[in-house]
Amino acid sequence: MKILLLGKNGQVGWELQRALAPLGGLVALDRAGADGLRGDLEDLDGLARTVRQLAPDVIVNAAAYTAVDKAETDVARAHCINAEAPGVLAAVAAELDALLVHYSTDYVFDGSGDQPWREDSPTAPLSVYGRTKLAGEEAIRASGCRHLVFRTSWVHAARGGNFARTMLRLAAERERLTVIADQVGAPTGAELIADVSAHAIRATVAAPALGGTYHLVADGETSWHGYACFVIEAARELGVALKVAEIAPIATSDYPTAASRPLNSRLDTRRLRTTFDLNLPDWRDGVARMLREILS
Ligand SMILES: NC(=O)c1ccc[n+]([C@@H]2O[C@H](COP(=O)([O-])OP(=O)(O)OC[C@H]3O[C@@H](n4cnc5c(N)ncnc54)[C@H](OP(=O)(O)O)[C@@H]3O)[C@@H](O)[C@H]2O)c1
Repeated sequence: MKILLLGKNGQVGWELQRALAPLGGLVALDRAGADGLRGDLEDLDGLARTVRQLAPDVIVNAAAYTAVDKAETDVARAHCINAEAPGVLAAVAAELDALLVHYSTDYVFDGSGDQPWREDSPTAPLSVYGRTKLAGEEAIRASGCRHLVFRTSWVHAARGGNFARTMLRLAAERERLTVIADQVGAPTGAELIADVSAHAIRATVAAPALGGTYHLVADGETSWHGYACFVIEAARELGVALKVAEIAPIATSDYPTAASRPLNSRLDTRRLRTTFDLNLPDWRDGVARMLREILS
């Protein structure tokens, strides 16, 4: 099986390099490309040419415009990378009869209510990022290509900057932290996303009817405040000295950002678990493991 991975150095892309390697011959590209192959999702012609030239069995797109607040004023670029490029990949995948694997987000929902969103729940993104990601998903579904679209949330990885690292830095510097307590979701490890992707790809290559849109997040739920408390407690248990004495919960309205974020980011993963017979571990398992990696 020949696999093309785009966005190889992002949080999820990095873990996919590891998880996809045993499945077959892997060509992994970042924005810069390699050996005349183009990996830049803003170069739509170059991208299409590269995919046709390689003719992979599976295309995995881990590249995205993920700067949620910046996207509010960088709309054309976010739209090209998150919506047009997946559309191009889908059109070429349909032409080549390749399987396209793509990632989307809880931000396609408006965050109302307190029930977990299902794959067929009504979408109503609140931000440019959410709208462009939804447009990307829709282009893939409309293309008729074989696909797996995984919606995930609150991604963390040992590599690169993330919420846990920011909390640890602030907790070392300050006695009091304020953290949003009314947005609820599931912190999800890039490792888990990559491993589940590999299982689902293998199964879907063997049984194409398994293709479709799936919610892929760790089990359980928390708020950013709950997440921060867990990180700080776990770091202390690992012997890290932190100055912080109080972690105060605040409302989203107390922390204005350029992009609006959904309050309810709960995603129902039943379809993924039953279709692929998978178990999704609790979010605390992934965060604890990531902390041991970054703190040791
Ligand atoms: N992070 C989250 O909390 C979260 C939540 C829900 C869903 N998701 C989705 O999950 C997927 C993976 O996200 P992630 O967390 O791994 O994101 P990430 O760490 O920000 O990685 C995104 C990657 O895309 C690359 N990229 C950006 N513009 C590009 C372009 N024009 N051409 C080629 N590559 C480009 C970036 O490269 P550079 O480093 O060169 O910019 C980066 O390597 C994305 O589809 C994202 O929308 C993420």
